[in-house]
Parts: sequence; C-alpha cells; structure tokens
Amino acid sequence: MKVAVFGGTGFLGRRIVGRLLDKGFEVLAVSRRARRAAVGSEAKAPDQVKADILDRSSIGPAIAGSNAVVNAVSLYVEHGGLTFERMHVTAAADLASAARQAGVERLVHISGIGADPRSASRYIKARGRGEGAVRNSFPDTIVLRSAVMIGPDDAFLTTLVRLVRLLPVYPLFGQGATRLQPVYVGDVAEAVSRLLADPIHDVSTFEVGGPRILRYRELVREIARTFGVHPILVPMPFAAWSTLALAAEFLPTPPFTRNQIDLMRQDNVTTGGMPGLPELGIEPLDIEQVIPMIEGSGIKTRT
Ligand SMILES: NC(=O)c1ccc[n+]([C@@H]2O[C@H](COP(=O)([O-])OP(=O)(O)OC[C@H]3O[C@@H](n4cnc5c(N)ncnc54)[C@H](OP(=O)(O)O)[C@@H]3O)[C@@H](O)[C@H]2O)c1
Repeated sequence: MKVAVFGGTGFLGRRIVGRLLDKGFEVLAVSRRARRAAVGSEAKAPDQVKADILDRSSIGPAIAGSNAVVNAVSLYVEHGGLTFERMHVTAAADLASAARQAGVERLVHISGIGADPRSASRYIKARGRGEGAVRNSFPDTIVLRSAVMIGPDDAFLTTLVRLVRLLPVYPLFGQGATRLQPVYVGDVAEAVSRLLADPIHDVSTFEVGGPRILRYRELVREIARTFGVHPILVPMPFAAWSTLALAAEFLPTPPFTRNQIDLMRQDNVTTGGMPGLPELGIEPLDIEQVIPMIEGSGIKTRT
C-alpha cells in the first residue's frame, strides 16, 4: 500500500511517515521543501515529493498512484492572503477532491479537538468548517482530532519546560484553569498508521488525547516539581496574552500565537463520545514519560 503524507516533514508528519515505513508501507513525504522525514525509522528513508497544497495543479501528480493520503499540513499564523480558511478549508477540500478523483481508497485528515464551525475563533472555526468541506469532497474521510501533542521538538512542552526552569515568576493563561490532555506525538502517529493498516473501522471521527487531564496550572506545577524549581504562578488575563501574541506574530518564529491563546481559552480534552487511542489498542504515554525526551531536560530517558 502506498501512502502520500502531506506535511510528511512536519512534527507529526515525520512520525507518521516513520511508523508507516516500519509497518512496511511505501511512503511519500509530501511538502514544499525536502527535509528530514521519518522519525523513528532510521534504517529507511521515504520518497520525498515537493508539492504545495495551495497549488491545486501540484496535488494530483503528488498523490498519483497512492492508495491512501494523509493531510498533516499545518498553518498556525495567518499572513498575507494565507488564511486559516484558505489552508484548513479550501486547500484541505482540494486535496480531498483530488484524492477522490485519483481513486484513493483512504483519506485521513488531521484536525484538532474542539474544532467547531460556529466558533468565534478564526482558527477553531476553520478547523470545524474544514472537516465538513473535506467530507463533502471525500465522504469516507477519517477525521482524527488531536489534543495538544507533546514530544521532542514540540512547540508546547519544550517551551513550557524551558520557561518553568528559567522564570522565578510564571505568567499563567488566565487563571491557568484550562483543562488539557497532552498526547505523545508518537501515539498519534501510531493511531494514524493503525487507521490505515486496519480497513475495518466504520467510524469516521476519532479523538485522541493523553492518559491524564490536567489544568494548565497543574501541568506547570508538575513540571516545576520534576525539575525542583518553585516559580510563583501569576494569573494573566487572556486579553493581555492576545495583545502580546499579536506582536509576537511579527517575529520570524513566534513563541506563541493568537490561535494558541484562543485554544487556551477553552478546555482541550476529548469529549469521551468518540473512539480514540484505547479503541485503536494504543496505551498512551503519560507526560511524565515524555518530559525526559525533551531536549535539554537533563533527565535520563526511560522509554
Ligand atoms: N502540534 C500540535 O500540538 C497539534 C495539535 C492538534 C492538531 N494538530 C494538527 O496536526 C497537523 C500537523 O501539525 P504539526 O504541528 O505537525 O505541523 P508542522 O510541524 O508545522 O508541520 C507542517 C507540515 O506541513 C507542511 N506544509 C506546510 N504548508 C504546506 C503547503 N502549503 N503545502 C504542502 N505542505 C505544507 C510543512 O512542510 P513545508 O513547510 O516544507 O511545506 C510540514 O511538513 C496540523 O493539522 C495541526 O493543526 C497539531
């Protein structure tokens, strides 16, 4: 079986590529620039294909001959004419309809927990509308909604670990009461590979989250405890964060973005009403097991 992974060089995509190669799939890592793909599968390298999901004419050739397609392309900051709607709705639907035209059998679309077409947040709304648009073009699409993902090179836990160890006073998002369910990126990649390997599933939406639900401030405290530091946790209003994020988005690599602040305003946990990692036979790693994998943690890896 041949799988084209759009975003196959990204944080999640690299792991998906690695898991698929390990399971014997033929894999194409599709992105605009060729980069290291296939984390966790050092022995093999996937074929790399350059294509831009925003350029409809480049999609067809990239997926020609594939039995399955995965959309793991991201956009976290809108810039110029490139909006969340353009990427997560229009381009996602273009990929889905190209997949249908090319006779692709399976399409896995990566979305996020809380995706909601009625949301006031531009990002969350686009994620919700995107799921519908993709299904219109490719009715059997499997949507996989993920909670915030953690692992080596992530944007979330790595930053949290650095800041908690560095800052004597730690500003929280609001009161730090948002409930989160961080999930190990390797577990999400494993879920995608199982969805592609096992054609029996008749469910079309999966929600994946980690084994524990923590409030943001509990997560910060747990990291502080792990490293033996005692920062003072200070609540900071979301409005102030959004203003800071607006300024931060002018930096080449923003430390945080407005869409992340929007996501932090509401709980980011699985609803419990949809199948997820347990139904796929995956026992997810706890954050305690993931912290040692974070670069610079100085903790001996046990996994
Ligand atoms: N990270 C999380 O915590 C998290 C949580 C929930 C859901 N998700 C979702 O998971 C998916 C993957 O996220 P990620 O964090 O792994 O993203 P990422 O690390 O930013 O990777 C994005 C990938 O997409 C490719 N890409 C970007 N623009 C493209 C374009 N126009 N055409 C073709 N390829 C393009 C990138 O390569 P090039 O730049 O070289 O093209 C890269 O391979 C996204 O849908 C994201 O919203 C992520």
